[in-house]
Amino acid sequence: MNKSYMSKMNRRYMTNTNGRYIASTIRTLALTIAIGTIAVNGQTATTPINTNLPKSALAGSTHDIGASAAGAGGVGAGCKGCHAPHNGATAIGGPQSTGVMLLWARNLPDPTKPYGTYTSPSNLTSAKELSNGTALTLNTDARMYSLLCLSCHDGVTSMLVVNSVNMVGSVASSAGLTNDHPINMVYDLTVQPALNPITNNQVANAAGTSALPLFSSSTGLTVQCATCHDAHNTAKYTNYLRQPNTAAHCLTCHT
Ligand code: HEC
Ligand code: HEC
Ligand code: HEC
Ligand code: HEC
Repeated sequence: MNKSYMSKMNRRYMTNTNGRYIASTIRTLALTIAIGTIAVNGQTATTPINTNLPKSALAGSTHDIGASAAGAGGVGAGCKGCHAPHNGATAIGGPQSTGVMLLWARNLPDPTKPYGTYTSPSNLTSAKELSNGTALTLNTDARMYSLLCLSCHDGVTSMLVVNSVNMVGSVASSAGLTNDHPINMVYDLTVQPALNPITNNQVANAAGTSALPLFSSSTGLTVQCATCHDAHNTAKYTNYLRQPNTAAHCLTCHT
């Protein structure tokens, strides 16, 4: 092979656009095969279902509250009742760090104060204590999706203390969370087979029309308050639920 032929070859392989086209075709083929494999494994639903309800229904709801009144329609602070467009949490005397989580505009419950968790001999996936003494890793901590709610619904943390009926996690005036549906536990089919499968970090209902989001923690995908509830909308379904308040809601997860 003479020198000039060699350099021609090099030019062809190094700079030829057809070469790049072939490489990208091979990549596309590999991707197609990968997608095909997923379909063979039986996971046909590859597009996540939008689990969020329209936020436009917040106005006038019991969550449309403000800095000085609680409950029953509140004072209409809108989104700012919970989120701060700037300086999250400092507006209500909280630390800057709290606002790192979803621009949260409220103090969060004390991470050392236990709420208690639901336990029973048949409950196989034990719920983990929310306020377990470990510092919160803001932004990535799955517990947040429950602690955000408890920043009003524990009856202690907020200046907008929610009335006793809705103080879900109040340690002072109820059994904390020990008599509530377990939260902050891993949704684990290997431990509890009587659960429906997870696809795209969600559990879809039988009809495939709605789904409940699970929140990622270091030990796996967990159930939190915001799995069943959407704090932005109680007009579509009662009790800020993501689905109608019927047996079908429970059957989304339980078989
Ligand atoms: C009562 C408290 C509360 C109010 C008021 C509120 N939010 Fe939220 N928001 C939450 C909670 C809790 C979460 C985290 C759980 C979740 O993702 O649903 C969240 C999450 C979000 C997210 C990120 C997840 C998503 O759903 O896209 C956005 C964006 C958001 N809120 C926007 C808004 C807007 C816009 C408004 C006003 C129309 C508003 N929020 C009013 C509590 C609130
Ligand atoms: C987002 C999924 C999900 C939804 C929705 C859901 N659950 Fe559960 N539930 C679980 C998981 C996960 C556990 C823990 C299961 C285990 O490990 O045994 C659990 C535990 C329970 C337990 C405790 C069982 C025991 O052995 O003590 C009861 C009772 C229960 N759920 C009833 C309900 C009811 C009633 C509804 C509807 C109002 C409901 N669940 C909705 C996921 C869900
Ligand atoms: C900023 C404070 C605040 C936050 C944060 C908050 N709530 Fe509320 N919530 C309220 C108030 C105030 C009421 C009305 C209480 C009343 O009318 O007695 C309420 C009522 C409710 C109700 C009763 C149904 C209704 O229509 O009034 C449910 C269910 C509820 N909240 C769930 C949640 C969940 C779940 C979260 C987190 C995803 C959450 N809330 C976050 C303040 C809050
Ligand atoms: C497994 C699903 C599920 C989880 C998880 C869940 N809830 Fe609920 N929640 C419901 C359902 C269903 C109702 C309606 C109950 C009824 O109709 O009696 C409800 C009702 C409520 C109510 C109004 C009725 C009452 O008891 O005062 C509040 C407030 C509430 N939830 C807050 C929370 C908070 C805060 C958390 C997290 C600590 C949470 N929920 C976790 C399913 C759930």
